[in-house]
Amino acid sequence: MLYLALIITHFFITNAVEIIPREILFQDPKYSSVSLSPDGKQVGYVAPDENGVRNVFTRCSSCSYSRQVTFETELSVLNYVWTAVPDVILFMQDNHGDENTKIFKKNITSAAIAANKTARTTVCDKPMVKGAIFVNNLISETVLIGMNDENPALHNIYAFDCRTDKLTLVLRNQRFPMFFFDNDMNIRLASEEGPDGEMIYYRPRNPGPVKSTDPSEWAEYLRIDHDDKALTVPLTFDKSNNFVYCIMGEGSDLGNLVVFPFEDPAQKEILYTAQKSQIGNVLIHPVDKTLLAITEVYHKPEIFVANDTFMEDMQYLVNMKPTGSLNIISMSLDMSTWLVAFVSADEPNDIYLYRRWNKKAELFMSTRPELKKYTLNKQVGFDFPARDDMTIQAYLSLPPQAPLLKSSQVPDSDRPYANLGMIPAVPQKMIVLVHGGPKARDHYGFSPMNAWLTNRGYAVLQVNFRGSTGFGKRLTNAGNGEWGRKMHFDILDAVEFAVSKGIANRTEVAVMGGSYGGYETLVALTFTPQTFACGVDIVGPSNLISLVQAIPPYWLGFRKDLIKMVGADIDTEEGRQSLQSRSPLFFADRVSRPIMIIQGANDPRVKQAESDQFVSALEKKNIPVTYLLYPDEGHGVRKPQNSMEQHGHIETFLQQCLGGEAQPFQPGQYNSTAIIKKVGIEGPAIARSQHLTAQMPRGPVAPSIFYRPPVRAQRVMYPPNQDVMNRIFPVQG
Ligand SMILES: *[C@@H]1O[C@H](CO)[C@@H](O)[C@H](O)[C@H]1NC(C)=O
Ligand SMILES: *[C@@H]1O[C@H](CO)[C@@H](O)[C@H](O)[C@H]1NC(C)=O
Ligand SMILES: *[C@@H]1O[C@H](CO)[C@@H](O)[C@H](O)[C@H]1NC(C)=O
Ligand SMILES: *[C@@H]1O[C@H](CO)[C@@H](O)[C@H](O)[C@H]1NC(C)=O
Ligand SMILES: *[C@@H]1O[C@H](CO)[C@@H](O)[C@H](O)[C@H]1NC(C)=O
Repeated sequence: MLYLALIITHFFITNAVEIIPREILFQDPKYSSVSLSPDGKQVGYVAPDENGVRNVFTRCSSCSYSRQVTFETELSVLNYVWTAVPDVILFMQDNHGDENTKIFKKNITSAAIAANKTARTTVCDKPMVKGAIFVNNLISETVLIGMNDENPALHNIYAFDCRTDKLTLVLRNQRFPMFFFDNDMNIRLASEEGPDGEMIYYRPRNPGPVKSTDPSEWAEYLRIDHDDKALTVPLTFDKSNNFVYCIMGEGSDLGNLVVFPFEDPAQKEILYTAQKSQIGNVLIHPVDKTLLAITEVYHKPEIFVANDTFMEDMQYLVNMKPTGSLNIISMSLDMSTWLVAFVSADEPNDIYLYRRWNKKAELFMSTRPELKKYTLNKQVGFDFPARDDMTIQAYLSLPPQAPLLKSSQVPDSDRPYANLGMIPAVPQKMIVLVHGGPKARDHYGFSPMNAWLTNRGYAVLQVNFRGSTGFGKRLTNAGNGEWGRKMHFDILDAVEFAVSKGIANRTEVAVMGGSYGGYETLVALTFTPQTFACGVDIVGPSNLISLVQAIPPYWLGFRKDLIKMVGADIDTEEGRQSLQSRSPLFFADRVSRPIMIIQGANDPRVKQAESDQFVSALEKKNIPVTYLLYPDEGHGVRKPQNSMEQHGHIETFLQQCLGGEAQPFQPGQYNSTAIIKKVGIEGPAIARSQHLTAQMPRGPVAPSIFYRPPVRAQRVMYPPNQDVMNRIFPVQG
């Protein structure tokens, strides 16, 4: 009997689980930005060096020899790209999160590194200038670089020769926020917003290189309705540079992959129609430039193969690990060598090297080997109806140790959910984790955040509320003007759903999110002050008027879109009233549950003032708040010491509020830069973590969420075989 009792007790003690240290979850991963060199001989990656600064390393793909190739000592490398010049990479940095991207060229030959390991060539490093690689086709030794160095709102286009370092102005841009190039790096299209937020494409009027953005040189080409804009993405020209491949939203909710002659865009041929969700990745042969595969992600990524030649390869890879979704990370130009990973929630990416000639994949690197010994959460995708019957997709991640009910143990109507493994034996403490954007979505896959929260005993609910992308333009556009309204109701309806199914305990639900998710957290705690037990706002706007007023210069080209999203313009009294009515700042006195606010001082998108003013409003009303300000961070916390500190604060806060698990934490233990302000909460009113020596440089501000990154490989497609196209791999549901 005693034995049985012990077993039962053990079964129901849900906290009998090993704590995963913050040091493992929020340190930089061992390998990130992993990619193959164009010749397939080397694998590049970013990793912390012996001084903890993230630098670029390379490893030979047929041996295990690694070497460091950049030697930055102060600013971590954000990313890098290979170029057509062997042994030359370009790498990127910014000033502590200000998003003014610097670009440097680095000669990574052993001889050059031996001569001077810190030597590098500046491509773009001017104060308040954001560099961007517009075209790098890995074939031409010249890359096209954008720099907003004359007019902060607009990027001029320069050609940078990766061999000679020569930088040449290609186009002085006085008009266009976006450009589209062909395979020979000619500017073929440019676009700007029309009066109703539509996207208007222009083409150069005359043949030959276009000299300026003067209207006399450009003719209108195509108009994309505002409603279709989020779904419409030109991909590339075909090899002849005469046909354009494009994902288009026109006349469909989920979008089509189409091809049309550049001279006659009305002659569209549909190559692929999205089946369940929007088209995600489009995989193209890097040399033959044929369409290989398309990815759609509803709950989990699914691959649709478009070329029989690669069916065997794909099938081999999918079969290798049917529990994970195949992700092709990188391919050599000759397609002989691939880097692939298998996406799953309960396993961080292992990266495999696949050699096509012997049809064999081998484990190449584990990105987070220290996590292997822990049991991580599953992440279940499901749908639920909102109050107006709109179908909303969401993910639930339960604590891995939570016992589940079988379908025979639940009412008939809940059986499908029990079959998915999402009905726990007892209602859980739950965090609603709201994504940013809002034109973005939550995805399936490993996430340190989900792993951490579920390990601490919380269920995590991630909702793709209206306004999100990925599920069709109807859902995205249904968010227009619904900030603080229907977009908030979707979050409430998701919580209601979880409570009604016995997933969550109504009194133990917290809300947390970054950026738009931070705004929603503030909305939740002010407009529905009794619904959530507490909330954590990370870089969230508190006042939609000041958010729109403070848009940085290079958002100007997308201002109409922003106005449509928030649903009112600051230029009219009526508009200001509407925005005010949906801005948590003006309702701060309603906050009645514990709140934590986190902000990066260099954030160019949501300025520090958004958090400062909300904290002041709370302070005036004597409402308790904990405020963490990071002087050396931007739109979210990036540096590992700051990230570990931030998560130490959050888990302590959540433990006090919901009673989950927490790893012991001492403010200051990580030497983070956090400036901590506590109002009405025990402890010193203002504490600063130790060892903040110099004031970190406060970078110039300039945001970029609307910038569309250029495609890395040129994408060219031919009409695929429809039969093959419709075959779905046995990716596990
Ligand atoms: C890289 O450095 C090596 C050794 O100094 C030199 O021979 C080579 O020309 C350099 N390559 C480029 C593209 O600068
Ligand atoms: C090495 O390169 C760095 C960065 O370009 C430069 O500041 C330094 O003077 C160089 N050192 C030597 C020994 O040439
Ligand atoms: C499939 O790929 C092969 C190899 O790249 C290529 O030769 C062939 O044209 C492609 N087929 C289609 C239908 O695109
Ligand atoms: C919900 O949580 C409260 C507070 O911890 C607890 O008293 C109550 O029993 C829980 N309800 C359910 C249904 O588990
Ligand atoms: C914090 O800084 C102190 C003094 O420089 C050092 O002794 C300690 O090891 C540092 N701790 C961490 C976690 O970096």
